[in-house]
Amino acid sequence: MYGLINKAMQSMICEKFGDEQWDRIQAASGVPEDSFLTMRSYDDAITYDLVGAAAEVLGAPVDDCLKMFGEYWVLETAAKSYGPLMNASGDTMVEFLGNMNALHDRITGTFLDYVPPEFEVEELGDQRHRIHYISKRQGLVPFVVGLLSGLSQRFNSELEIHHQEQLDVEHGTHAIFEVSIR
Ligand code: HEM
Repeated sequence: MYGLINKAMQSMICEKFGDEQWDRIQAASGVPEDSFLTMRSYDDAITYDLVGAAAEVLGAPVDDCLKMFGEYWVLETAAKSYGPLMNASGDTMVEFLGNMNALHDRITGTFLDYVPPEFEVEELGDQRHRIHYISKRQGLVPFVVGLLSGLSQRFNSELEIHHQEQLDVEHGTHAIFEVSIR
């Protein structure tokens, strides 16, 4: 994944837990020191190794670390580094989710050959929605839970996840969330 993802994780750990914990996490992860250039694409394994090391050093489950990172990505990284793009992508959480593919499409000129996920939103009525998350990768569903939580905070919405399931796909992930957004 692009270095900005790894760099955002570094910023989150330093802000929330301090530079020393970050040094321990980086050492435990064994990832090369030059894995954090925003506009360079790195092997996905680097990102996964960082998350694994964060879980180990912080003594927290991997899923919790990914969720925390999802919230941080929306509320800090994207809001601060990509404010205009975020602001142009919707005034409500549902509108924003409907524009997620367009958001990632708009930056394909910047992030060459990157592999963003796809989102689809089905309206079920009575403020209920079915959100599909489709990715070429595995293991990032808790990150998406954190992203959704971050978005609900961004838009002052109340998010309730009623049901979550993963379809059996050969490569990657297709997860479905049934949610209420109020
Ligand atoms: C303007 C802000 C954003 C930028 C610049 C951005 C950019 C990126 C980049 C560069 C990647 C790495 C893909 C790769 O290197 O192959 C990525 C991945 C991802 N993005 Fe975004 N993104 C933004 C906002 C969002 C938001 C708001 C969401 C959530 C609703 C989101 C969901 C994801 C997910 C889940 C991934 C992980 C890749 C996967 O699931 O396969 N992004 N994004």
